Amino acid sequence: MSRPSAKPVVHIGQGRIRATEWRFEPGTETGWHIHGHDYTVVPLTDGDLLLEEPGGGTRTAALVRHVPYSRRSGVHHNVVNNGDQPLSFLEIEVVEDPLQEQRLQTMMRFGDAWNAHDLDALMACMADDCTFHASAGNSSEGAAHVGRDAVRAAFAAVFDDFPDAQWTRPQHRVAGDVGLSTWRFVGRTRDGVSIAVDGCDVLHFSGALIVLKDSYRKSMVPPKA
Ligand code: NI
Repeated sequence: MSRPSAKPVVHIGQGRIRATEWRFEPGTETGWHIHGHDYTVVPLTDGDLLLEEPGGGTRTAALVRHVPYSRRSGVHHNVVNNGDQPLSFLEIEVVEDPLQEQRLQTMMRFGDAWNAHDLDALMACMADDCTFHASAGNSSEGAAHVGRDAVRAAFAAVFDDFPDAQWTRPQHRVAGDVGLSTWRFVGRTRDGVSIAVDGCDVLHFSGALIVLKDSYRKSMVPPKA
């Protein structure tokens, strides 16, 4: 369901600190977005906002006028005013170093491409000399797939093995030339076995592109009968 858009008013649009006032008439929403920067929210009204999150979850964010809260970059949601009063807050963002910002954007596009099962979009995030170390395999690295063709084939095999695979609850962080994406893998095998396990990718960057995707997944032990 798409609702009318909440109104962003940019107060400070340049430099390392950005300030945007969001005005929500009843029934409006920001639209889906991923925060590319750490940010602080200063509520300008009291009231409850509805947060829609990836995977179908929702939460309520209670706004208390002039009582700020902070969040890290990587938050992914749609913010909705489903009450009957106008709501507003001031969002203050800290803009990171441009390369770190590009790396974070790559991680977000990469996460979206996994959920869209879009191989071209996945490979557009990978460097030419890329490698993929999959969680499961017969070596210390799991399974090592070296070079674009091998990486693409290994990504395709994931979609083949899990036709409805989704990576829910995504969170992304970058430190230096390494990124960390955490998620919950949810899918069914072709035999209909459901799997839901937490995992992460340690992503090594060359410039803004991923040169190594090193994947880790929890191993769920079935309960004893
Ligand atoms: Ni937001």
